[in-house]
Parts: sequence; structure tokens; C-alpha cells
Amino acid sequence: MARSWSLLLPFALALVASVAQAAIVEYTFNVGNLSISRLCEKETIITAVNGQLPGPTIMASEGDTVVVHMVNESPYNMTIHWHGIFQRGTPWADGPAMVTQCPIRPDGNYTYRFNVTVQEGTLWWHSHFSFLRATVYGTLIIKPRGGAKAYPFPEPDEEEVVILGEWWKLNVYDLQQEALQTGKPANHADAYTINDKPGDFYNCSAPTFELKQNKTYMLRIINAALNTPLFFKVANHSFTVVAADACYTKPYNTDVVVISPGQTVDAIMLPDTGVAAAVGGRYYMAVIPYNSAISAPPDRLYSLTKGTAVVEYAGGSETSPPVLPDLPVYNDTATAHRFLSNMTALVPNRVPLAVDTQMFVTVGMGDTFCGPDQTRCMPNPPINGTIFASSMNNASFELPKTISMLDALYRNSTDGVYTRDFPDTPPIVFDYTGEAPDLNETLKHTFKSTKVKTLPYNSTVQMVLQNTRLVSKESHPMHLHGFNFFVLAQGFGNYDETTDPAKFNLVDPQERNTVAVPTGLWFMHCHFDAHLDFGLGMVFEVQNGPTPETSLPPPPSDLPQC
Ligand SMILES: *[C@@H]1O[C@H](CO)[C@@H](O)[C@H](O)[C@H]1NC(C)=O
Ligand SMILES: *[C@@H]1O[C@H](CO)[C@@H](O)[C@H](O)[C@H]1NC(C)=O
Ligand SMILES: *[C@@H]1O[C@H](CO)[C@@H](O)[C@H](O)[C@H]1NC(C)=O
Ligand SMILES: *[C@@H]1O[C@H](CO)[C@@H](O)[C@H](O)[C@H]1NC(C)=O
Ligand SMILES: *[C@@H]1O[C@H](CO)[C@@H](O)[C@H](O)[C@H]1NC(C)=O
Ligand SMILES: *[C@@H]1O[C@H](CO)[C@@H](O)[C@H](O)[C@H]1NC(C)=O
Ligand SMILES: *[C@@H]1O[C@H](CO)[C@@H](O)[C@H](O)[C@H]1NC(C)=O
Ligand SMILES: *[C@@H]1O[C@H](CO)[C@@H](O)[C@H](O)[C@H]1NC(C)=O
Ligand SMILES: *[C@@H]1O[C@H](CO)[C@@H](O)[C@H](O)[C@H]1NC(C)=O
Ligand SMILES: *[C@@H]1O[C@H](CO)[C@@H](O)[C@H](O)[C@H]1NC(C)=O
Ligand SMILES: *[C@@H]1O[C@H](CO)[C@@H](O)[C@H](O)[C@H]1NC(C)=O
Ligand SMILES: *[C@@H]1O[C@H](CO)[C@@H](O)[C@H](O)[C@H]1NC(C)=O
Repeated sequence: MARSWSLLLPFALALVASVAQAAIVEYTFNVGNLSISRLCEKETIITAVNGQLPGPTIMASEGDTVVVHMVNESPYNMTIHWHGIFQRGTPWADGPAMVTQCPIRPDGNYTYRFNVTVQEGTLWWHSHFSFLRATVYGTLIIKPRGGAKAYPFPEPDEEEVVILGEWWKLNVYDLQQEALQTGKPANHADAYTINDKPGDFYNCSAPTFELKQNKTYMLRIINAALNTPLFFKVANHSFTVVAADACYTKPYNTDVVVISPGQTVDAIMLPDTGVAAAVGGRYYMAVIPYNSAISAPPDRLYSLTKGTAVVEYAGGSETSPPVLPDLPVYNDTATAHRFLSNMTALVPNRVPLAVDTQMFVTVGMGDTFCGPDQTRCMPNPPINGTIFASSMNNASFELPKTISMLDALYRNSTDGVYTRDFPDTPPIVFDYTGEAPDLNETLKHTFKSTKVKTLPYNSTVQMVLQNTRLVSKESHPMHLHGFNFFVLAQGFGNYDETTDPAKFNLVDPQERNTVAVPTGLWFMHCHFDAHLDFGLGMVFEVQNGPTPETSLPPPPSDLPQC
């Protein structure tokens, strides 16, 4: 469904009180082949970290320094993005291939080193090269400095990570190459997974959560799926959401969680009356896709078989099947909208009201002329030789090939790598969400480019994201590297600049990644990997601030070269 979002992006650096007892938490990630089977098929070779799927969980406390030695034993280029980490003063550790670093080649290695300051909660890490994050991902938890007692809600007795994913029988790198060459989005995954298991409805291995009676559980839910927003429920249980994207929310009660790729939700799971006392009670935890596209054929875009796990209370020897939750239908936009628009920030009055830069940015699908990579580009009547593309303000983002953008900036040699002309408004004003433009070739046609928007250090940006219904009408989970933003308002249809600003929540809007950004280059893109490949992205270039700490540092000595 076409949707417009109003975001506020405050590029300020908050002052950090000096933190005592910061530790160094150190990990080695050996990325390599893993032979595995998930749907009772014969074993296939995937790419995984330390032979584990999901990969290792990084546990840190606020203020710590995280050091990860990445050794690439896989046959593919590799990078890791630390999703949601601000990377203050460490833009070289952010991870997107060709934006902040050249990839780590097979047999190469690189040490990611960054501090986790002024943020806490559930985040995650994943590969930022090709579709490899389908299997190269894991959890990153930042505890408050004072431990669980410092949570701004009653301390739960136990915590469980619930990481949601998608499983393909085919090699995901080949899948991405196929999509690039044909210009057609990849077909849906073969299964949805919970902690990497598809569950009973795929007639295969099911994960089990063993719960103790009368204890409170906090679930750290992460959507690590490549392309699919998910509805999440547990039969006979409800939730109190306490955080999203590692930002505390006012407690929000719901029986369903809606979560897009890249997002996280921390929720206290509450059994319905009578359930906690049921010794040996068994309940399904289940996920099913949320498809925002209008009249999309679910059979091609999404598998409608639910992924499940079993939640089982200790003390019984139960054999009866678990209770199934009543799941929303795949196109239940009303339920998704209620969940996504109803959350508010725990701490009010943090929105910077003085806006320095206003941007109105269309996001959506279209087409472009076939490039040299599209070896099997098909005629697309009425114009031959076009291929599926996506864009922001009609600029279809393309990664540079010879040097990373950040390295080019550092070396003052951005010529031929990127240009500083990302537009503040779309080139053509039209009825973005009306029926008419769908087939209009002028409106659909976009051009490949590598454009950035340059911002002075510590500026505040208000961005209206206007979805279009060109080609495909669905919502896009926009992710911004390096900082959080406040979501001031969301709605359907075209944004109205005279009446809609009155609907902005400037008091306690939900925060979806924070108020701080160091200098550097920060990628903003759709977190559906299929859309990112087709160009749904842009980059902010944040200029140096007045001090050495607020300026772009030199690259680490082991930074991979192209
Ligand atoms: C950022 O700008 C605000 C005013 O807009 C100012 O109060 C603050 O001190 C600045 N922060 C830094 C780190 O420069
Ligand atoms: C990893 O698997 C690929 C096939 O997917 C194979 O070509 C390669 O030789 C394997 N590498 C190692 C180190 O086993
Ligand atoms: C990271 O934290 C350490 C220890 O507190 C500090 O010495 C270092 O300067 C910090 N690094 C950055 C880039 O802020
Ligand atoms: C990392 O790469 C360097 C340079 O190629 C090499 O000397 C070193 O042995 C490698 N380290 C590991 C752990 O592979
Ligand atoms: C699981 O098995 C049942 C019964 O044999 C079958 O109807 C169903 O299609 C199977 N599901 C999958 C996803 O293979
Ligand atoms: C859980 O609470 C119920 C109701 O208060 C009680 O009957 C039961 O014994 C408790 N179970 C445990 C394991 O503490
Ligand atoms: C959801 O899909 C069903 C069948 O695919 C359709 O009948 C229904 O109108 C759709 N609902 C919405 C809100 O689009
Ligand atoms: C937010 O929640 C309230 C109470 O459940 C409900 O009345 C309202 O419609 C919700 N808002 C949206 C946008 O769904
Ligand atoms: C597209 O290509 C086909 C086959 O080569 C040709 O018949 C047709 O005239 C072309 N259409 C246009 C608009 O160029
Ligand atoms: C880039 O240009 C700036 C300003 O002109 C200069 O201070 C800096 O040394 C240059 N950096 C490199 C790596 O040449
Ligand atoms: C396509 O849209 C453009 C811009 O709104 C308009 O000028 C043109 O007439 C439209 N073309 C068609 C065939 O509707
Ligand atoms: C891997 O990275 C190197 C260095 O940037 C690049 O030359 C090469 O084309 C990349 N390989 C693939 C398959 O993308």
C-alpha cells in the first residue's frame, strides 16, 4: 500500500558523560562454508559464521568497545554491517560494501572496532554483500551499564532471543546474480524460520522454548528475513512492547507484533489468565508474511506456510498438539498500521524543532535501460531493452566499482565515484498514489547514478518519504545507517504539505535509529534486499565538524582495498 512517512533526522552529537568500567568485548568471526539441511532435503552448502546459524550473539554493555576479527574463509566477498550502531568516530567500521569499505575478499581479513555508546537494547549484525545476509547474521545485545536492573520497566526473570529469517534451498548468491541479470525479483523463500528452524508446518525440525511457570519472559525479536515483513503471535499469550530498534517505548500492549526486515522489538510475553499455571501447556509461536502490496499474487511473492516454534511450560509430559494462534491474513494492513503507528517513545520532548534542511523524497519502483550486467534483459513493451529498477527521487542508486565512497571522500577524489546532487524533491510532481501513473513510461523511467546529499555537521533534516504506486505498490522498510530518526507521522495516499504537518507528533514520536551522527557517509536504503539491488537507496555525506573528534578519521591500516 502506498504510504508516506515523515521523518526527522537530527544529525547532532549528544554529549556523553564519561563512562566507568568500559570493557573490550572481542570475537573472531570465521566466515565459511557450512553443510546443512533445513527442509529435510539433502544437505546444501551455505555461508555461515563459525559454523553456526544464526551466528554468534554479541553481548556488550553500553560504553564497551566491540572488536570483531573477521576472517573470510568463504568463496565470496564479505562485509558485516552492525545494524543500528551509531559508529561515532568509526565510519570505517559500518560495513556496507563499496559505501564505507571495499569487501573482504576470500582469504582476506579485517578487524571491526567500534564503541557502543549512548544506545542500549536489541540490535543485530549481518552481511552487507549480495544476498549473503540470508545466512550470515546474528544478534547484538547492548545491556544497560547498570545491568538488567537498569531497564526502565520491571526486570523480567528471563530473556529469549527470537530471530526470524527466511530459508532458501537455492544458493542465495546465485539467486541474487540471477535477479540482477534478468531484472526480475527473486521468488519467495522456501520457508520462514524462527531461530533458524522452519517448524512443524514444513514437516521438519521445530524449535522449542522451554518456559518455567510463573516467570516473566522478555523476547528480543529480530526480523532478519531478506524481503518479508512478518506478523508474529504466540497462542494464548499477549505482549507488552517495551522497545523497538533499541529505543525504549511507552509500554504498548498487543497480541500481535508486526516487524519488517531490519527491525527489532523487545516485548514482555504475558500468558493469558490460566495459561501460566497449566503445567506442560504447549503453544505455537508463529510467523506469517505481511504483504502490503495491493492485489499482489501471494503465491509468487510470499509463501503462506507459517513458520513456527513451540512454547512449552515445564512440568508436563504433553503429547497433544500445541495450540495455534489466530493469525492475521497476509494482507491485513489495518492490523499492521495499528501496530506500526501506535507506539510512542518512553521519554518525551527530545525532537529538535529547528529544521535546517527539508527534503521530500519519493520511493518506489520503476524501470531503467538495461545495463551490461543484464545479460538476459528481455524486451518490455512498449519500450525495448528496459529492466526493473527502484529509485529515490527518481535516482536509481548504483554502487561504485573501483573504490569505496568513504575512501574516495577521504582521499578528496570523489570525481567519477559519486556526485553531490541528490535532489531535495522529485523531478516531476504527479499524483504519486493515484491509479493513472502506473503505466506511464515517463514517470516509471529512472536512471542509474551514485548521488549523495551533503549535510553540514550537526544539521537537522526533515524528510517526507512519499511512496509511489508505480509498478508495485508496497511499503518499504527504510533503514538509515549511523543514526536514528523520529517518525513524526505516517499515513496513506499523497502527503499534503498544508494539512499534514499539523498531524506531526513532536512530543513523543517513536524513534527508530538516534540523535547522533559522526561525519562520514551514511547509507539510507530499503531493507528488502531485492529492492536495494534494484537501486532503492541514497547516501548522506556528513561534513566534518569543528573538532578532530567530529572529523573523518583516517582509515584503519587493515581496511580492505579494492
Ligand atoms: C548541535 O547544534 C545544536 C543547536 O542546533 C547545539 O545546541 C549543539 O551544541 C550542537 N552540538 C554539537 C556537538 O555541535
Ligand atoms: C565452499 O563451497 C563451494 C561451493 O558452494 C566450493 O566451491 C568451495 O570449494 C568450498 N570451499 C571450501 C573451503 O570448502
Ligand atoms: C572508544 O572507547 C575507548 C574507551 O573508552 C576510548 O578510548 C576511544 O577513544 C573511543 N573511541 C572512539 C572512536 O570514540
Ligand atoms: C590477515 O591478513 C593478513 C594480511 O594478508 C595476514 O598477514 C594475516 O595472517 C591474516 N590473519 C588471519 C587471522 O587470517
Ligand atoms: C506436510 O505434510 C502434510 C501431510 O503429509 C502435507 O499435507 C503438507 O503439504 C506438508 N507440508 C509441507 C510444507 O511440505
Ligand atoms: C504458579 O502459580 C500458581 C498460581 O499462583 C501456583 O498454583 C503454582 O504452584 C505456581 N507454580 C510454580 C512452579 O511456582
Ligand atoms: C486480502 O486478500 C483477499 C484474497 O486474496 C481479498 O479477498 C481481500 O479483499 C484482500 N483484502 C485487502 C484489505 O486487500
Ligand atoms: C491505536 O490504538 C488505539 C487503541 O487500541 C486505537 O483506537 C487506534 O485506532 C489505534 N490507532 C491506529 C492508527 O490504528
Ligand atoms: C521491440 O523489439 C521487437 C522485436 O525485436 C520489434 O518487433 C519491435 O518493433 C520493437 N519495439 C519498439 C517500440 O522498438
Ligand atoms: C583533503 O582535502 C582537505 C582540505 O582541502 C585536506 O585538509 C586533506 O589533507 C586532504 N586529504 C587528503 C587525504 O589528501
Ligand atoms: C505521463 O506523465 C507525465 C507527467 O505527469 C505527463 O506529462 C504525460 O502526459 C503522461 N503521459 C501519459 C501517456 O499519460
Ligand atoms: C570482490 O571484491 C573485489 C574487490 O573490491 C572486486 O574486484 C570483485 O569484483 C568482487 N567480486 C565480486 C564477485 O563481486
